[in-house]
Amino acid sequence: MSGGRLQLQNLRKSFGGVVATDDVSLTFEPGTLSAIIGPNGAGKTTLFHLITGKLPVSSGRVLLDDAEITGLDRRDIVRRGIGRAFQVANLFPSFTVAHSLAAGLMAHEGRTASLFRGFPPKDIAARAEEVMELCGLTHLAATESRHLSHGDQKLLDIALALALSPKVLLLDEPTAGMGPDERWRMIERVHKLWEARGLTLVFIEHDMDIVFRIAQSVRVLRYGAVLAQGTPEEMRRNPAVIEAYLGAEHAL
Ligand SMILES: Nc1ncnc2c1ncn2[C@@H]1O[C@H](COP(=O)(O)OP(=O)(O)OP(=O)(O)O)[C@@H](O)[C@H]1O
Ligand SMILES: [Mg+2]
Repeated sequence: MSGGRLQLQNLRKSFGGVVATDDVSLTFEPGTLSAIIGPNGAGKTTLFHLITGKLPVSSGRVLLDDAEITGLDRRDIVRRGIGRAFQVANLFPSFTVAHSLAAGLMAHEGRTASLFRGFPPKDIAARAEEVMELCGLTHLAATESRHLSHGDQKLLDIALALALSPKVLLLDEPTAGMGPDERWRMIERVHKLWEARGLTLVFIEHDMDIVFRIAQSVRVLRYGAVLAQGTPEEMRRNPAVIEAYLGAEHAL
């Protein structure tokens, strides 16, 4: 499965008087790895919610490979190829990692388990194995999801997203709540699976070291609008970005 082109055209979202997304137009080219940064409340998470259909847009369009997906049902948006991290451990806390993935896959594909044919079916088990391998979870296949560490639960969420063969994967702060070592392990893993799958990856991240280390391009949001976009180096040198977000200590 290769990457898809994600286009956001003049997206707007307001909550009463608060404009959370203000005329955002962005394109994420197939197979690229992009970061979205911006201060707290800049509208980063809202933007993802508009793409995934968790929130209806006030106006504007979302296109995946030139087909409009705005306003579709959340599950249909996943089926079209927009991947997002599910909270798997909350869905199936007493299932093992392998079975959580199998159950998640079957639920998403509208398949029911048959007691007579065994659970999980062979094709589903094979897909679960593939993504466990990719996410470094194989050694935890028989562990109950609720007993996983915070970082491994996050990897499980990503594993289910990958099992659904996304063309575009959206990750909202994949390293949130992790210590420094775990954070880098997670980001290396994310980078590796991006390379392995060739998908279009967009992640929201507060840690600038991570952003500057792995992102090919950076989009900066402020007050719901796009303040700047370019390579990490360009963003590091952009006066508006330095002033608005990075702070004087990052300026060279
Ligand atoms: N459901 C909602 N109802 C009302 N206002 C909301 C809602 N969701 C978000 N907002 C507002 O929209 C703005 C953008 O919020 P959002 O969560 O998208 O920011 P963010 O960039 O993800 O911030 P953070 O870095 O803290 O995660 C904020 O002012 C927030 O208070
Ligand atoms: Mg957020």
